Amino acid sequence: MKNAYSRIAGTGRGLPEKILTNQDLEKMVETSDEWIRSRTGIERRHIAADHETNLDFCEQAARNAMQAAGVGPGDIDLVIVGTTTPDQVFPNMGCLLQRRLGIHGCTAFSLEAACTGFIYALDIADKYIRTGSAKCALIVGGETLSRMTDWSDRGTCVLFGDGAGAVVLEAAEQPGIISTHLHADGKYADLLYFPSGVSKGFDDLKSGKDFIRMSGNEVFKVAVTKLGEIVTETLQANNMTADKLDWLIPHQANLRIIEATARKLKLPMERVILTVQDHGNTSTASVPMALDVAVRDGRVQRGQTLLLEAFGGGFTWGSALIRY
Ligand code: UT7
Repeated sequence: MKNAYSRIAGTGRGLPEKILTNQDLEKMVETSDEWIRSRTGIERRHIAADHETNLDFCEQAARNAMQAAGVGPGDIDLVIVGTTTPDQVFPNMGCLLQRRLGIHGCTAFSLEAACTGFIYALDIADKYIRTGSAKCALIVGGETLSRMTDWSDRGTCVLFGDGAGAVVLEAAEQPGIISTHLHADGKYADLLYFPSGVSKGFDDLKSGKDFIRMSGNEVFKVAVTKLGEIVTETLQANNMTADKLDWLIPHQANLRIIEATARKLKLPMERVILTVQDHGNTSTASVPMALDVAVRDGRVQRGQTLLLEAFGGGFTWGSALIRY
């Protein structure tokens, strides 16, 4: 059957110009460059300026991905934006992005699956394309986590960054997206969350008392376990072994979590794309930005096999096996 698959036609990223280093953080909270590097691998992160919003970075990432794919606004027939930090409640970020890009009439929505949002969006877009409901999808993961971070809490403020990553996914005769695997378990909802919402109320947010809450150590342990399980599940589903992977492109939350997943796969760190040192944890933006970095610096080449994975609040976790 023709065009029964989807493939990545182009990638892009958009980052704030402003960079916050570990040294900058040393002046803000009781921490040290040494602690942050050794516990997380993070050295710096990009932070949105006051006048910038998530949509700015999504737009930049989308434009770069569309240019790389050689497609224009009229070619896109599906827009999905994964985010936990939308500019506003509605119109959804997909519609807001449509307006910025001059895309009219196609399906557009945002989805919230915390750090796994991009993988969720990729899974959905792949299914739209495989069933013939779309031919050319724009998928974006974008966040401004800095807007929900408590800048006086050293336990969390050293971790997060802002930015967006995007891919254009096109119908193709060959995969492309070989398989996607999604999971969630709401029983872990209290380990990593942001407590406000329209229905519950934003009072604490207004008073500056509301922010991301995380039981870091417990999140860490579940993340290592679930990511270890999902990379194994992905390989088994495709009857393949890790030595056939060219690159692991993991969620960039913590270098030690990434190393644990690579160890599980017996994959040397030379075959793992790392951006955590430069971007920090950008939630759903981290995987598409890491992919774009590696595509643009020439490490990821056409024909190579990539394993993408992510884990985040919910908990949600997911993976995608890709022939680039
Ligand atoms: O993206 C979604 C998924 N999120 C994650 O995957 C994050 C998962 N969690 C983590 O990455 C790690 O748990 C953290 C990086 C958040 C924390 O690392 P940890 O090794 O689990 O440290 P800890 O929370 O157990 O804290 C160890 C010590 C504590 O001091 P005491 O009680 O041992 O005296 C903390 O108070 O480190 C202290 N500490 C800090 N010290 C200097 C915590 N934050 C800092 C800091 N600077 N920024």
